[in-house]
Amino acid sequence: MKSVEVVVVVGARPNFMKAAPLLRELGAYPAVHSTLVHTGQHYDEEMSRVFFQELNLPEPDVDLEVGSGSHAEQTAEIMLRFERLVDEIDPDLVVVVGDVNSTLAGALVAAKRGIPVAHVEAGLRSFDPSMPEEINRRLTDALSDFLFTPSADADENLRREGIDESRIFRTGNVMVDTLLEFRERAEKSPIREKLGLDGEGYAFLTLHRPSNVDDRRTLAGLIGAFAELAREIPVVFPAHPRTAERLRTFGLQDELDAAGVRVLEPLGYLDCLHLMDHARLVVTDSGGIQEETTVLGVPCLTVRESTERPVTVEEGTNQVVGRDPERMLAAARRALDGKGPQGRVPSLWDGKAARRMVEVLADHFGVEARDPDARGS
Ligand code: UD1
Repeated sequence: MKSVEVVVVVGARPNFMKAAPLLRELGAYPAVHSTLVHTGQHYDEEMSRVFFQELNLPEPDVDLEVGSGSHAEQTAEIMLRFERLVDEIDPDLVVVVGDVNSTLAGALVAAKRGIPVAHVEAGLRSFDPSMPEEINRRLTDALSDFLFTPSADADENLRREGIDESRIFRTGNVMVDTLLEFRERAEKSPIREKLGLDGEGYAFLTLHRPSNVDDRRTLAGLIGAFAELAREIPVVFPAHPRTAERLRTFGLQDELDAAGVRVLEPLGYLDCLHLMDHARLVVTDSGGIQEETTVLGVPCLTVRESTERPVTVEEGTNQVVGRDPERMLAAARRALDGKGPQGRVPSLWDGKAARRMVEVLADHFGVEARDPDARGS
């Protein structure tokens, strides 16, 4: 029987929960051999390893260990190291996920070697070219042969960019596969108890976009608003390493401490999901969290001027409130009063996205699942 060699590239925190269900589905096809490549873009225990353990991801077959650097350094270093690996493995397909530098670097190398590329989470657009991720998204989509989209707006964006219909596959949201699979396990996390939040309502906050944390005035304005919010409700704030570093160098940590904001180390997947699931309000600039709160039915305020995930606003519980502290606070108070959008879960965010993606690929490569009858859905 023909065998198909697939390389799956991951590198940064939001990639891991998207790759986990895909790898599992690929594993159901005996003729498919997958190699998991970690670029090493994220390398701290709590930014990377903990996700592998919690999500039952296999150890990466290869770690390119690129580490941090400027965008050019990081992207170029991944390309150099990944190209050597691709030459060695000679895969039939390279799968990249999301919109981080590792995504673009993987797609570029594969496309230039004439290897088909599948992009998971294709078609999202914030239309904000100052976001590094927006550049990664547009370029990765332009290079990809299989564009797996989570929502109709993404299909539209791709069509508008002239991408041929035959390359677009609306398969749903793969991150939701992981959320639904692990929600019960996350429920058992002792994190609320550990933080003394049991029985109390609280707001959950994350912030890491360069546009929010790299400029002192912008960050100081937001921190002032969070300190204000903390007078009304306990605020829990797991800080990304970039943010923690900025809080220190800009001297803003004291203000958070004085207001009683609970600044934590980055959390693992299960603790994070648990805290979101029980929060009265989530405030974030993350992409994935906008989607997760929509599925959990928790009000979400996105502290950005745009979102590449408009379906979370149109159908879900998300509101894009910008960076103006007053506007953010007013929206937070409304949401805490129960006046935020109620929302529903978008279609195909049903836990089966990875299966649909792998079925498309299997069909293309002409391979069959181990037990196709049992899998029919
Ligand atoms: C990256 C992604 C972003 C994603 C985010 C999730 C790009 C362009 N950006 O941003 O889309 O939302 O991951 O976290 O790919 N650092 C550590 N330990 C780590 C990793 C990073 O301390 O394990 C620190 C380093 O100082 C590094 C900085 O964080 O310079 C930024 O890391 P980087 O991977 O460049 O970008 P993120 O801000 O994490």
